[in-house]
Amino acid sequence: MEISVEALTKAQAEAELARLADLLAKANHAYHAEDAPEISDAEYDAARRRNAEIEARFPDLKRADSPTDQVGAGPDEGFGKIPHAVRMLSLGNAFEDEDVAEFDSRVRSFLGLPRNAPLAYTAEPKIDGLSLSLRYENGRLTQAATRGDGAVGENVTANARTIKDIPQQIENAPETLEVRGEVYMSHADFEALNSRHAERGGKTFANPRNAAAGSLRQLDATITAARPLRFFAYAWGALSAPLADTQMAAIDRLKQLGFQTNPLTRLCRSTRELIDHYTSIEAQRATLGYDIDGVVYKVDDLALQARLGFRSTTPRWAIAHKFPAETAWTRLGAIDIQVGRTGALSPVARLAPVTVGGVVVSNATLHNEDYIAGRDSKGSVIRDGKDIRVGDWVQVYRAGDVIPKVADVDLSKRPDDARPYDFPTTCPECGSDAVREEGDAIRRCTGGLICPAQAIEKLKHFVSRGAFDIEGLGARQIEMFFADETLPIREPADIFTLRERDAQNLARLKNRDGWGDTSAENLFAAIETRRKDIAFDRVLFGLGIRHVGEAAARDLARHFATWQGLEKALDRARPAAMAHRRADLAEETERRRATSEGRRARIKPMRETAFNIEPVEADALDSWNELIAIDGVGPALALSLSDAFANPRERASIDRLIALLTIQATEAPTDDSPVAGKTVVFTGTLEKMTRAEAKARAEALGAKVSGSVSGKTDLLIAGPGAGSKARKAADLGVEIIDEDGWIVLIGGL
Ligand code: IVH
Repeated sequence: MEISVEALTKAQAEAELARLADLLAKANHAYHAEDAPEISDAEYDAARRRNAEIEARFPDLKRADSPTDQVGAGPDEGFGKIPHAVRMLSLGNAFEDEDVAEFDSRVRSFLGLPRNAPLAYTAEPKIDGLSLSLRYENGRLTQAATRGDGAVGENVTANARTIKDIPQQIENAPETLEVRGEVYMSHADFEALNSRHAERGGKTFANPRNAAAGSLRQLDATITAARPLRFFAYAWGALSAPLADTQMAAIDRLKQLGFQTNPLTRLCRSTRELIDHYTSIEAQRATLGYDIDGVVYKVDDLALQARLGFRSTTPRWAIAHKFPAETAWTRLGAIDIQVGRTGALSPVARLAPVTVGGVVVSNATLHNEDYIAGRDSKGSVIRDGKDIRVGDWVQVYRAGDVIPKVADVDLSKRPDDARPYDFPTTCPECGSDAVREEGDAIRRCTGGLICPAQAIEKLKHFVSRGAFDIEGLGARQIEMFFADETLPIREPADIFTLRERDAQNLARLKNRDGWGDTSAENLFAAIETRRKDIAFDRVLFGLGIRHVGEAAARDLARHFATWQGLEKALDRARPAAMAHRRADLAEETERRRATSEGRRARIKPMRETAFNIEPVEADALDSWNELIAIDGVGPALALSLSDAFANPRERASIDRLIALLTIQATEAPTDDSPVAGKTVVFTGTLEKMTRAEAKARAEALGAKVSGSVSGKTDLLIAGPGAGSKARKAADLGVEIIDEDGWIVLIGGL
């Protein structure tokens, strides 16, 4: 007989809380791990209620593992982090046959191989699952990590050990071996899992990929064990000894070691053969028994793979040739405008929900106003010029995990009252003018920081994963704080004064709905951790300046090393940037005049005309040229960066932020190389490697490669035919070497 909560003594209550914690934990486990549930839903609910009532009566008895706190605990909070010894990258995409031919040309041109020189590739299915990195030490599986952000993954070792395709122990393996591949679920296992869940009234998964991801990322490995996951090995990370000389042989080696490798992997000797194999795999797609979303091509020769290396997030030696996206027809109910962090007005289609490739879609992007009107960014007709109207039947598609898009419209079903869409010319969020600059496909709100939508989106970006990544401060919390009257966050600096302001506030955060002592303290601590130690590139990326993506932020950080370095360079380059802007405007006016006179405007791009229009001091010009010569930084990015730092309000907001932070200086990636931190320029013809390869090698060794010679140049590599750059370098007393000298310097080819 259960004692009523009011009648419990303190000692009894304590014992009862322990019993209930145990009972509920077991019930959760039994339910999720698919064993027969041990208690009914009603009993389960009653136990939870009783637990909560006892806790309410004796708050100090609440257990650290209280079942009350376990509702809605995100599954990802509990995984440890594992840094990847070798980054886990993604793949560039090809959609059309021409993209494949271009990939082949890029590879050849990087390596300096003629069109007809033999060059082999492997082609294999692209498995639609999630990637996993397995670490073996002396043949024993020691660690398994998800991809995470590519640099740091989640520790899912216990879960990976339950997957049958993953050997725990391997013979004759290199001392250190990281095997990479894809975790996936077969169609049959997926159907069975879903019907088991459906019978119990449980949650079903939208597709095998989600089921695989949900099953692998379980805090309780016994749940993973009960889900039939599989694994294909297709790549590797850190190795103490090479697996083989070619991709094909390396995959064979993985197979001998006991891994499943995909049986449809083939060696192809031309783009024709690649595309033939793609067609053959596509024809087998429906009968494979598992989801694939394309075919991956990889350069077979591993020495060539090493020479080709990587761009910031993708290898140069591989590409994914995707299958055409799945499509579906549905009705367009409305068009809403969303305002992004750079003020872009983006039209969003609100759709009658429809299933596309296993996922229910009810929103899709409509790109921009031209797209709705039936034109592309150059003004050419698309969809035979059909515009899109509210009420239309539209075709939507999804390619991989890309956001759904509207592809087409069915005029035969257009309702009589459907009227062309009028794209707003004022910002729906703040009422400021929304203008479209000549040559820009996008209409932007001119409200800047006064536009709440821009400010919120900027803040969300600021705390996002690639930027400050503050635990407990996500998009939802940003919205809450932005609207808060007593403890607002309206700009990035406000985040770092939150604790201090909270301390002086009567309405303390910890007393508010959804917050408590612990969660408030945790948030302040997470903010403080970032405040005291944040990488330069994350700060720069976090500012959300147009064109400054993660890769560009990294390039800039690497180039300038410190925040002050960047700031000084921008301030110095400002007059040149402004002249650029003015030249840009002048050119625009000229083009409009020319066009209106009916002549075809044949005007040089602004880059070449800018400084003919207005002379700028040499110092400013030098700084500007240094900026745009950084790999990955073009004039558009440089201008946008310069604008952000020149705008008084924005600059003040940036300064307030920087004053609060401790920013790490960026180190050159490999400082033990003889060219680390040096600025080098290549000129003339290189004979042993292409310009692209030379540049990539130099950058991998920590050098900065610039296109022009200036006082900052440390080294000029001059091949035959070198001209004005070599003369300028000689005048400036810059060290000049030839290609052979360079190859010796970097330790050989
Ligand atoms: S190779 C350095 N091969 O696709 C490149 N990836 O879009 C390593 N994937 O993150 C990847 N099947 O999760 C490779 N046969 C295959 C693949 C494959 C699926 C996934 C992988 C990767 C993603 C990139």
